[in-house]
Amino acid sequence: EKGGYDHYMLKEIHEQPTALRQALSGRVNLDDGTADLDLEFPPGFLESLEEIQLIACGTSYYAAQYAAGLLESVADVRASAQLASEYTFNGGRDPWRTLTVAVTQSGETADTLSALRRANGAGVRTLAVTNTLGSTVTREANDSLFIRAGPEIGVAATKTFASQVTTLALLSIFVARERGTLSAADARSALADLRGLPGAVQQVLDEAETVREAAETYVDASAYFFVGRTYGYPVALEGALKLKEIAYDHAEGFAAGELKHGPLALVTDETPLLAVLTEGTRPAETLNNVAEAQTRGSPAIGIVDGTVETNALDVTFEVPSLGTATPLVANVYLQLFAYYIADLQGRPIDKPRNLAKSVTVE
Ligand code: M6R
Repeated sequence: EKGGYDHYMLKEIHEQPTALRQALSGRVNLDDGTADLDLEFPPGFLESLEEIQLIACGTSYYAAQYAAGLLESVADVRASAQLASEYTFNGGRDPWRTLTVAVTQSGETADTLSALRRANGAGVRTLAVTNTLGSTVTREANDSLFIRAGPEIGVAATKTFASQVTTLALLSIFVARERGTLSAADARSALADLRGLPGAVQQVLDEAETVREAAETYVDASAYFFVGRTYGYPVALEGALKLKEIAYDHAEGFAAGELKHGPLALVTDETPLLAVLTEGTRPAETLNNVAEAQTRGSPAIGIVDGTVETNALDVTFEVPSLGTATPLVANVYLQLFAYYIADLQGRPIDKPRNLAKSVTVE
């Protein structure tokens, strides 16, 4: 049932091109430059919207962080990702002009449901973005949008992250077009980038062997650090989370610019740094931060698309440029890296210790 793969996680990583095709199917309207989502809001609601709050936990929170950036940039609306367990609806804001989006692949995460109930209680319009038809979140939110990733069995979220970000990117285009903040031409170009995702992710999967070789080189590291800017930042956080949960190694993600404000003290020749250096993530500045770590002996692994000159890096993994979707493709390298680091150490990858697929306690 693992389709010839050693673990469900690896199977699900390889299912991403299919999952992304499903997420996009019937939703990309290149003629009109719109995202056709089966969503109906009250007349004028999106136009007068002032704030979008995305609430989520763990990997879904990083997808929400990525999406908040997309919404702010195309839909001209204040957007923020908030950890569900920390969420309190701020009564000072206008509940009539707020949309709260609960991002949860299972639809059953207690922290997210509890935050959603707080939003519902404040009279906010709510939307569930989930992988699970009929889940609790779909019954309690006003509307639902499905990410269509198919079942995910590995505890580590992989394809659901890709499908969440892709579906939320469609949502950002939908909201922006309704609000009139994105031209048809710009929407077409963003939609074409999303259409390019399954093929681009396949190109990364075809490089799995080179990632395994890099994992062999660095498997004895004492810690792994991940950095990126803008959309590369949630991807860095997600890369670190994957590695710590399945490999049980110390891994941390930082905003690249923050490295010099403290974490640099941790850097040695035993702490490889993985950096997202692609289009739209301010790669030149990030590269400066990487160089600061290299000066302290840190090996540097970069995910690159040719936007900046990266000859000084120890390892480069290449991705095609797809605008603001590029870091999502870069993330697939980080999934594979975490997988191989864990596999080389013989970890029980599909069922890491102390973790559950669905966390139903607060
Ligand atoms: O089902 P959800 O998306 O609400 O789950 C939230 C987190 O528990 C989940 O994303 C978790 O962080 C991942 N399984 C980690 O890989």
